Amino acid sequence: MEKLFISYNQIHETVKGIAQEIQSDGFAFDHMVAIGTGGFIPAHMLKTFINRPILTVGMAYYDLNDVKMDVPVITQWLDDPENQITGRRILLVDEVDDTRSTIGYCLEKLLTHDPKEIAVAVLHDKDKPKTREIPPQITRYYRGLKMEDRWICYPWDAEDIWAQDKQAVWSDPPIENPITS
Ligand code: G4P
Ligand code: MG
Repeated sequence: MEKLFISYNQIHETVKGIAQEIQSDGFAFDHMVAIGTGGFIPAHMLKTFINRPILTVGMAYYDLNDVKMDVPVITQWLDDPENQITGRRILLVDEVDDTRSTIGYCLEKLLTHDPKEIAVAVLHDKDKPKTREIPPQITRYYRGLKMEDRWICYPWDAEDIWAQDKQAVWSDPPIENPITS
């Protein structure tokens, strides 16, 4: 599959766009829940624009023998969901909505704790069939960019960040920006 390289600066612009959309939408969330590891850096960047605390959760698709499972298992969860989620407004943050397995599973788990509202923010939403629907209670979904189904190379996975930057030039962006376009 063709790769799409992305720079930190491009991600910064995308996060800024998401923050502006959240603010103009009037969604005042109590805190973020970042899905690790991909959601960690985007959540931190978003905090620069909307300064709310970040909680983190972890999911894995591979068991200890490195065998892929059908359903993700939780490797880290909230220590006090009654205080952290129940009756609160939550923004769930991840880097990419790909098959939506992880995000969908995480949303279902968070909804069992009776939040006042949950919204989703992702940098990139791939235009492809999804394994799960966004639950109907979730009415706010902030996607920075809608993407073709390509493999995205994130700057935090790069060993040579200067080479990453050079490859992250979009003279002909294979993307559509629903926020600015
Ligand atoms: P989704 O709910 O976010 O759509 O995730 P899905 O289960 O489909 O994806 C499985 C893993 O593959 C996720 O990582 C996701 O971040 C990663 N992934 C999907 N598409 C891309 C891509 O284009 N580029 C990169 N770099 N990663 C992608 P994970 O298992 O949660 O781990 P982590 O990488 O976030 O630590
Ligand atoms: Mg991820």
